[in-house]
Amino acid sequence: MGNLLWIAIAYVMGSIPFGLVFARTFCGVDPRTGGSRNVGATNVARLCGTKWGVATLLCDALKGALPVAIAMSFSDSAFFHSLTALAALVGHLHSCFLGFKGGKAVATTVGVFIPLAFGQLVLAGIACLLVIWRSGFVSLGSLTLVTALPVFLLVYGKWKLLPLALVVMALVYWSHRENIGRLARGEEKPWQKKHHDAA
Ligand code: G3P
Repeated sequence: MGNLLWIAIAYVMGSIPFGLVFARTFCGVDPRTGGSRNVGATNVARLCGTKWGVATLLCDALKGALPVAIAMSFSDSAFFHSLTALAALVGHLHSCFLGFKGGKAVATTVGVFIPLAFGQLVLAGIACLLVIWRSGFVSLGSLTLVTALPVFLLVYGKWKLLPLALVVMALVYWSHRENIGRLARGEEKPWQKKHHDAA
């Protein structure tokens, strides 16, 4: 019963739309109507500047890291840790505060894996940053992150987290389906270009 309650709390924490709150409060825009129309850090940075993008990234990561870290403090079950992580991610993707719509769950993915598999997350993060640096596409970097994560978990023998990483990969690919279409058609604009267009 306690565990189920915690999973519900993780969902509500994941649902907090920090990007929308920051963008509306501090720069007077609704990210759902500008740029890529996403409430995540990339679009908030695009519309409101790097400072609010970074704030969104940190808070969206924190709302994933916190419920998982707390779950790890009172349970040893990797299955329960994974369900808690998934609840926070589903909260971000289908927020109860946004009519069950939401973001793309990249920052929250980073957050949930901080307490679960920090070393493998850092390696996947390096791959992600290299791809963004070389291509200019944040979306391609995000897809690289969630693809590299299960590979590094496999390499380092963290089997118990593999189901979570594979489900996360599927969820993030799905949340990026429009980005993937644009990338395939050569229509995805690099970060700087989108920022310029949105301004
Ligand atoms: O984390 C989201 C990023 O991968 C793509 O964001 O706004 O360019 O669709 P956006």
